[in-house]
Amino acid sequence: MDTKESYAVVTGASQGLGKAFVEHLARKKINVILISLPDQNLKELSSELERLYEIKAHYYETDLSVHENVMKLTKWLNSSFEIHILINNAGLGGTKKFTEASSDYINTILQVNVAATSLITHQLLPNLLRQPKAYILNVSSMAAFSPIGFKTVYPASKSFIHSFSRGLHEE
Ligand SMILES: NC(=O)c1ccc[n+]([C@@H]2O[C@H](COP(=O)([O-])OP(=O)(O)OC[C@H]3O[C@@H](n4cnc5c(N)ncnc54)[C@H](OP(=O)(O)O)[C@@H]3O)[C@@H](O)[C@H]2O)c1
Repeated sequence: MDTKESYAVVTGASQGLGKAFVEHLARKKINVILISLPDQNLKELSSELERLYEIKAHYYETDLSVHENVMKLTKWLNSSFEIHILINNAGLGGTKKFTEASSDYINTILQVNVAATSLITHQLLPNLLRQPKAYILNVSSMAAFSPIGFKTVYPASKSFIHSFSRGLHEE
């Protein structure tokens, strides 16, 4: 497949697993679009990937816990790029007694892990489907397979990702 003009989108690309994904893709000569929260050195990382691996790299800084941001991001992606790989990696959790967690804490986990993953996939699918070959990787967790007290919402959100991915695969 000629992927010279096509891109891989990776959410949560500033650090951890997401950063490892973009480095690996760039090494394989795949153009990348890095997404994460503002002020996480995405500009520097994109430039470094372009220089080291002679690929094209773009970046977009946004808070994926906000619905309008997700819609703006996907609009920009669809109007600017052909996309043949989507890696929904951005995700967060934490350890807190459920009754002591703030509603913001719970909402952010649900919005990023569940809503952003589902909506980015939904909005980018027409773009992915028009490519000769395309791939989606949703990062779940071993936590998907077992409830964990004091984490509670995180494992439940990863069970969603697991079920969502299998359902989508069936379609
Ligand atoms: N680490 C593990 O042991 C482990 C195990 C199983 C599954 N996972 C899953 O693997 C994925 C990556 O984990 P990791 O450990 O590599 O995480 P990490 O180092 O904390 O990185 C998380 C990434 O997600 C981004 N992110 C978080 N909240 C965001 C938001 N509201 N809007 C936009 N981006 C946001 C972060 O951006 P910023 O840098 O801008 O904050 C960062 O780039 C997650 O889905 C996690 O649940 C991790």
